[in-house]
Amino acid sequence: MPQKELDQAVQARVEKWIRSDIQSLKAYQVADASGLIKLDAMENPYIWGEELKQQWLAEMQQQSLNRYPDPAGTRVVAGLKEVFGIDQRYELLLGNGSDELIQIIIAALAADNLTVLSPEPSFVMYEMIAKFLRVNYVGVPLGNDFKLDLTAMLDAIEAYQPGVVFLAQPNNPTGNLFGEEKVRRVIEASPGLVVIDEAYLAFAECNALTLLADYSNLLVMRTLSKVGLAGLRLGFLVGHPGWITELNKVRLPYNINQLTQASTQFALANYHQLAEQINQLVTDREQLFESLQQLEGITVWPSQANFLLFRSHTIPAKELHQALIKERILIKCLDGVHPLLTGCLRVTVGAPAENEAFLKALTAILS
Ligand SMILES: Cc1ncc(COP(=O)(O)O)c(C=O)c1O
Repeated sequence: MPQKELDQAVQARVEKWIRSDIQSLKAYQVADASGLIKLDAMENPYIWGEELKQQWLAEMQQQSLNRYPDPAGTRVVAGLKEVFGIDQRYELLLGNGSDELIQIIIAALAADNLTVLSPEPSFVMYEMIAKFLRVNYVGVPLGNDFKLDLTAMLDAIEAYQPGVVFLAQPNNPTGNLFGEEKVRRVIEASPGLVVIDEAYLAFAECNALTLLADYSNLLVMRTLSKVGLAGLRLGFLVGHPGWITELNKVRLPYNINQLTQASTQFALANYHQLAEQINQLVTDREQLFESLQQLEGITVWPSQANFLLFRSHTIPAKELHQALIKERILIKCLDGVHPLLTGCLRVTVGAPAENEAFLKALTAILS
């Protein structure tokens, strides 16, 4: 068939068979960061030292890629339990990043009348995955200074009876914690599951694992992405065995590949090195926060994560974003993503020289 005819035939079949709501979605966009200082995606800027890298490569050489990986990731699970002090009575479910875990949870609950609920603005994948799986999504706007609006949350829970509520602690993109008392009230009012997403736990003072003993409807989700292993894609869900057993049925076999399993074991055995980098990032976050507070024309919010949210008052956020790119600095523009984020941008805390370069460019653009 001539290429043009073939293309038209493909298009006709796509239009007939791909769901129309999927056709109208935009694929998840990742900005091209080549040649730029990358401060857009909450990655850890540090790489491993040469010695550690050589040890890791030696481990990689031992791996048999002709064999399927351990489907349960048994050694990874044991390593995670040890490093993060997870009580033996809870079970873990591993995901290809926590993105996959969100998908597994919603897929396992999906029913005609299922509602997924979260405060907003928050992590976009809760809504996206609900849409992919054709379930109802309800976003409850945050209050002043992005605090959790407890009354609005409780009213929405009462009205929609959600099968799952996602609470990111600290929240992305606002960087704040919602506070244990409010979180408890949400869990107590929820008829279904509550997932506390602790992706940024390492940079914060919180730990929802302690709540698991009090609630039968709670799961805690974590990831290694933000602590320096975003390339591995490893997320994990901690919960009561009853929930994990059922969710595990929806997980595709071998979702955690051999190299990720081996690299995770290696990284966990050397976790103290990541912990040092995290401490450095927390110190640098505070310094960056103070510097941003002193700049005229922006408002910056305190953060318990490895990023800072700020609003530009004098220059439109999109213009500011482009002007920073011209100075080789890539951050995330959030203007237009949600009404509460009008004029807002989010910068990831980088290495000191990267933060300096960002501050210098921003100061010049604002002056
Ligand atoms: C709150 C939150 N949860 C989960 C994720 C996804 O993490 P992962 O890389 O493990 O898929 C992100 C990523 O930005 C996030 O901000």
